[in-house]
Amino acid sequence: MQERAKGWHRSGLSVCLVPTMGALHDGHLSLIAKARSVVGPDGVVIVSIYVNPTQFGPHEDFNAYPRTLDSDCERCREAGTDVVFAPVDAEMYPDGRAGSFSCFVVEKKLSQSMEGASRPTHFEGVTTVVAKLFHICLPDSSVFGAKDFQQVAVIRRMVQDLNFPLEIVVAPTHRESDGLAMSSRNQYLGSKERVEAPTLFRILSACRHKVQESLKPVPMPELRQICDSYITQNPLVRLDYLECFHPDSLIPQDCAKPGDRLAIAAYLGSTRLIDNCEL
Ligand code: PAF
Repeated sequence: MQERAKGWHRSGLSVCLVPTMGALHDGHLSLIAKARSVVGPDGVVIVSIYVNPTQFGPHEDFNAYPRTLDSDCERCREAGTDVVFAPVDAEMYPDGRAGSFSCFVVEKKLSQSMEGASRPTHFEGVTTVVAKLFHICLPDSSVFGAKDFQQVAVIRRMVQDLNFPLEIVVAPTHRESDGLAMSSRNQYLGSKERVEAPTLFRILSACRHKVQESLKPVPMPELRQICDSYITQNPLVRLDYLECFHPDSLIPQDCAKPGDRLAIAAYLGSTRLIDNCEL
């Protein structure tokens, strides 16, 4: 992969990487379309497909995570991808899954709250594998989805602090018609859970409405009350967190104002979903 990427650079072609864990849905296709618009018709769009073991906690869904490589490759082809890079574990973590791997990339500030607090080893798995993918694919740019807002902030910081010579591009969250953010994990939802899953988006929308119509910053307890009222009506939803934070520093805000970001994580049964919006 690296040799091919060096060849493209020698030929003056621009290379864009879309890192994914597969189980591709329309949200991923919009990332691929974004990548194409960044490199133009002659550039190279790489989609990496790798379910990265080091970003899953011990009791998370690594084994259950959907693996659909053949249909993913088909979708990539239809979407105009030039190359799919789909390594196996032994190529990414020689000597086994990750146990004997001894170098990790750790972001220490932006990765502590929200997803990092709920999933303590998650971000070091993400930054490590994304750093490896950047070194392997040598992209000039890489596209990530805004649904994983904190992930984007952490990766941007890694790129800045460690001088990766590439641009991070963010594509907007793709939603189902009822507002549910597209995610490979939506496949886990049972039919009753699927009916209640848009509650996350409804909570974010109601909070945004509250903040936008208010003349002064809204204390977080008021937004938590709005959130509680939705959850009472949707008993399958179990809240993990609702956090308001500054979009760049990710510093939590006690009072929410326009321009801040609001993020939510919740379980439906054993499925954990996340979403976020600008207030
Ligand atoms: O967002 C994801 O799908 C993953 O965290 C990523 C960036 C592909 C790293 O494994």
